[in-house]
Amino acid sequence: MITSKDIAKILEKYDQKKLAIGTLGSHSSLNIFKGAKEEGFRTVCVCKEKDAIMYKKYPLVDELIIVKDFTELLNEALQEKLRKLNVILVPHGSFTAYLSTEELTDSLFVPMFGNRQLLHWEANRKSQEEWLRQAGLRLPATFKTPEDIDRLIIAKLPGAKGGRGYFLANSPKSFHQKFDSMVKRGLLTKDDLGKIHLQEYALGVNVYPSYFSSILNDDVELLCVDRRYESAVDSIGKIPASEQLEIDVNPTYTIVGNFPIVLRESLLPELMRMGDNVHKKAKELAPPGIIGPFCLETVITDDLKIFTFEISARIVAGTNVGIGTSPYAYLKYGENMYMGRRIAMEIKEAREQKRLQDILA
Ligand SMILES: Nc1ncnc2c1ncn2[C@@H]1O[C@H](COP(=O)(O)OP(=O)(O)O)[C@@H](O)[C@H]1O
Ligand SMILES: [Mg+2]
Repeated sequence: MITSKDIAKILEKYDQKKLAIGTLGSHSSLNIFKGAKEEGFRTVCVCKEKDAIMYKKYPLVDELIIVKDFTELLNEALQEKLRKLNVILVPHGSFTAYLSTEELTDSLFVPMFGNRQLLHWEANRKSQEEWLRQAGLRLPATFKTPEDIDRLIIAKLPGAKGGRGYFLANSPKSFHQKFDSMVKRGLLTKDDLGKIHLQEYALGVNVYPSYFSSILNDDVELLCVDRRYESAVDSIGKIPASEQLEIDVNPTYTIVGNFPIVLRESLLPELMRMGDNVHKKAKELAPPGIIGPFCLETVITDDLKIFTFEISARIVAGTNVGIGTSPYAYLKYGENMYMGRRIAMEIKEAREQKRLQDILA
């Protein structure tokens, strides 16, 4: 386990005037690098050869480090190089996709913007749900066994990527029928039965508010709201119901892009309270709580109830819709504020106030 003492030791050796912001070259890296540049930081990108074109076309990176695989981030030589460059890493979705929670908390000896301890709370559905429920959020009901199903549910597999293998059912009978057919089609195995998470399906529209928790200002800011453009689920409505039945389509949720959303204003107070409460609860679970960006995955129903089904305690790619300005960032900061820049701003302020240690874990 990397402790705050380890981080303090690394920081002692850093030339703080030459701090650089670094991340893996994917997900929301352009957002992060643009923000870093605008706040006057040097930037370091750990990137795969095939993606390097992005940083030639958008010249936002001062130091490009080419790797074969993102897991090379665990190599001591690469970490030493990053430390020599005075890098503060900004984690995003590719960190948790390519590295395990344990690798991130125990083997990545480079200062990271954020709270590593929260990764454990985020890592599995049960602990995440506990966190969100205790924060007073409304969650979809969960069912212990298929026999308890009494309404429309979504069946989720742990670790499933992009909702592959997820399916809907509305009774024990329909559950077993669907499960068996998924097994026949090779999408699931019999062993998955015990691992499936059964969750009430919230019928409504998906809304993903992104927040920034500032430890320096002791405040949670709502900066951006997006929805996702998912294949195949967003395309199923384009074919008539009769054809849908014939070809036996399955809704998968592979993210292709995001749309910005401007919400009806009456929803904002509750979303703001939710953000505050999630951070407040996190403070108890893993002090000092959330450091920096986080996102709630919600469904809002036609009676305007907000159901939360997931949290990401880091920058999400949905904030890329705000590069430049999102309306919500504009309301607080005026023009040209967005998640990547807000992160850099916090790091810069922490350096000025000599509080870097408070925002790095
Ligand atoms: N309880 C729910 N009610 C309605 N839709 C849901 C629910 N849970 C998930 N979904 C839909 O399924 C998608 C994938 O679910 P999610 O739990 O976010 O899985 P992943 O771990 O792949 O992100 C969501 O983006 C959302 O569209
Ligand atoms: Mg999700």
